[in-house]
Amino acid sequence: MFDHLSSLPADPILGLLAAYRADENPRKIDLGVGVYKDEAGHTPVLQAVKEAETRLLRSEETKAYVGPAGTAGFNAAMQELVLGAGHPALVGNRVRSAQTPGGCGALRVLAEFANRAKEHATIWVSDPTWANHVPLLGNAGLQIKSYPYYDRATSSLKFDAMVETLKQVGEGELVLFHACCHNPCGADLSREQWQVLAEMAQKQGFTPFIDMAYQGFGDSLDADAYGLRLMAESVPEMLVAASCSKNFGLYRERVGMAMAIYRDADSADRGQSQLLNVVRGNYSMPPNHGGAIVEAILTDAGLRANWEAELTEMRERINSLRSGLVESLEKAGAVGDFHFIQQQKGMFSFLGITPEQVEKLQQDYSIYMVDSSRISIAGLSQNNMEYFCASVAEVLES
Ligand code: LMR
Repeated sequence: MFDHLSSLPADPILGLLAAYRADENPRKIDLGVGVYKDEAGHTPVLQAVKEAETRLLRSEETKAYVGPAGTAGFNAAMQELVLGAGHPALVGNRVRSAQTPGGCGALRVLAEFANRAKEHATIWVSDPTWANHVPLLGNAGLQIKSYPYYDRATSSLKFDAMVETLKQVGEGELVLFHACCHNPCGADLSREQWQVLAEMAQKQGFTPFIDMAYQGFGDSLDADAYGLRLMAESVPEMLVAASCSKNFGLYRERVGMAMAIYRDADSADRGQSQLLNVVRGNYSMPPNHGGAIVEAILTDAGLRANWEAELTEMRERINSLRSGLVESLEKAGAVGDFHFIQQQKGMFSFLGITPEQVEKLQQDYSIYMVDSSRISIAGLSQNNMEYFCASVAEVLES
């Protein structure tokens, strides 16, 4: 039965991890997968998470099933984190959600849910977008089209072209937006641009589907949700996939939330019954541990303050690496203008070099990045910055 299956190439992002681990060069640098690293190159468990786990270990009394949505406490706390307390959609009782296995689980559940509402509905994604959006959304049945977003030649947004393309999108179609810290390009929409898009969604009737994987990694928890919250005030219906992988450092625990906003409370109840049925037919219910940690942190003032401080520290480190990188590339004599890196947000930016140059960096210098030249900024440090910039400068010269 399985004999005829051919083998597939490694995942373009996760495959880099294996190649990096096998590399014996002591100077190797991993700028591949989007995982936060500290100055020593570690991805530590956050203190707030450790403390929440300690408390949970003491207080947990059962491992009995919770249910397809996860706990009510998790959902309420996450809805508030994403939308902000007192958001009109919350006050109007129009929001429903489920805890999911990571942001990927949320994307997949929401895609299947949307496909139930309208089979093979079109979803417009940014060009470029995160590589895994395509299988997560497409394998659920949605039809994928793309809108222009990032201009590699100028390392900036193609907002006019984006608007021009989205003018043709109407009711029954979805548009995927990255809430903040665009993956892979790091170029975010301004507040004015969100306003334009919110007005278009309202007027044309398309359904925004927002991927919020990096809340807190751009400017702040609230500022990073600005566009999402504005959109949610402007339209009757909207989907949100939120991830707790990066901002809580819970990567392997797989915690996220699939959230839908409906026209009214009645359609919300009907929609939620469908969404939970999608969950039941996929993995029945989410794992509890990671969600319990998030709930514990968000509902305890002390833990929450500690978590926010740790999140701020991660964000500030990445931002200072961004400025350090621009400066060091200049100092190393790298050909080109890299100032755009300082303007961009979150874990990623494109370096803007060719796939051949990316390959040369990997082969000759043991520097690993996705072949689009996306770099995960947190993989840089004071220790490897000079080597990295000198290597890039050499590759650009050759
Ligand atoms: C990334 O883009 O590197 C992360 O979102 C991790 C992943 O699953 O690809």
